[in-house]
Amino acid sequence: MNKTEKLIDLDKRHHLHPSSPVKDNFNQGPMVLLERGEGIYLYDVDGKRYIDGLASLWNVNIGHGRKEIAEVAKAQMEKLAFSHSFNRFSHESAVLLAEKIASLAPGDLNAVQFTSGGSESNDTAFKLVRHYFKLKGEPDRFKIIARYRAYHGISMGATSATGIPIFRQMGGPLASGFIHAAAPHCYRCESCQSDCSGACAVQSIKDLIEKEDPKTIAAIILEPIQGAGGVIVPPPGYIKQVREICDQHGILMIADEVITGFGRTGRWFGMEHEGVAPDLMTFAKGVTSGYIPLGGVVISERIHQEIIELSNQNQVLPHGYTYSAHPTACSVALRNLDIISDEKLVENAEAMGQVLKQGLAELAKEFEIVGNVMSRGLIASLEFVQDRATKKAFPATVRMANQVFDKAMSKGLITRAITIDNTDIVALCPPLIITREQIGEILEILRETLKEVEASL
Ligand SMILES: Cc1ncc(COP(=O)(O)O)c(C=O)c1O
Repeated sequence: MNKTEKLIDLDKRHHLHPSSPVKDNFNQGPMVLLERGEGIYLYDVDGKRYIDGLASLWNVNIGHGRKEIAEVAKAQMEKLAFSHSFNRFSHESAVLLAEKIASLAPGDLNAVQFTSGGSESNDTAFKLVRHYFKLKGEPDRFKIIARYRAYHGISMGATSATGIPIFRQMGGPLASGFIHAAAPHCYRCESCQSDCSGACAVQSIKDLIEKEDPKTIAAIILEPIQGAGGVIVPPPGYIKQVREICDQHGILMIADEVITGFGRTGRWFGMEHEGVAPDLMTFAKGVTSGYIPLGGVVISERIHQEIIELSNQNQVLPHGYTYSAHPTACSVALRNLDIISDEKLVENAEAMGQVLKQGLAELAKEFEIVGNVMSRGLIASLEFVQDRATKKAFPATVRMANQVFDKAMSKGLITRAITIDNTDIVALCPPLIITREQIGEILEILRETLKEVEASL
């Protein structure tokens, strides 16, 4: 066995891959052993080059191989490798990062509690809102409304909020008090099966609140764009209407900006597209561009002050992780955010997002199997259909999303195949440093891929 074969063999025997097929991890093709990354490209151990069309897992915003990030991490580790931030302890990179995030975040979001990822951040947000309402003397306000096809992570609270059935089926019974409303499809509503511009999805939230009793609802959590659920970009006005519903009933709004934060959509945060400020915002992924795990929750100044005022003198906030505000992670995040600002990557996401949108629209014209395209900034999806007029999906046996993924992969483009609700979707979410020419490369590979797939039908 050569080294690669040996690694693959050891991987099969000892490595339980996250969210992956169990019987044979590689039944859709050979294992990809990646060795290095540079810019938007990844290279495997055989030297094959791939365009990282999903910024790895929607997170490598500044691209791969940034030496300056490694230098910052090294310097921080040499100086202060670790300090927790419980009680009276703190350290410079935690303070500066909290201040930086507060300055970037919309509205009066102002105080940050750090975590190590998106799931932990959402669990933290759920516990914070329940704690807040208990302090306010409203212990019955504990229910969290999420949406169908939402993905909020895999810890117990985050899974309970997630609205994708396959994740909910594992590990139940789930946490209580999580309920789900419809997802806002732009062009084909789940309820009315037509383009209702999100009216049914808004109504579904209103109906759920009435059914459950408004005084029992603590928060509504929503991704500004539902990522893992198939890149669902909500119709204009939808998020504003959800904000109005929250205000009407004293319900808190939690924005899950784990994918959409830090420039992904052409704004620092996805909520800004509608000028909406949530009461809490969770983040992870892009805050460090994946160079090191970090996440967090930002809460509004109003909630922050109320929690302080309503707490007794010796009351603690009994929630925090060993690695909340890990010094190396905070230093990396600070450098990463500087890179996003200095290199104008939010602006680039907006400009290149337009190029991508246009290119995908052209592909949709060329290929009958493309039933719908959704995008905002540098996050996009193509939905594949057997019949464009009726939007009839391919039978599950065709595995269209996987076919497109596999063919694109063999041509050197990594995407993400999503099959949900009998719908085949391929998602794109490239690093924010991408150029016009590189988007051209992605589109060319997709064109060749779709030609071959259509020809084989
Ligand atoms: C919107 C959203 N929220 C939360 C999470 C969970 O984040 P993590 O995998 O870091 O726990 C994800 C992960 O993809 C996500 O996309």
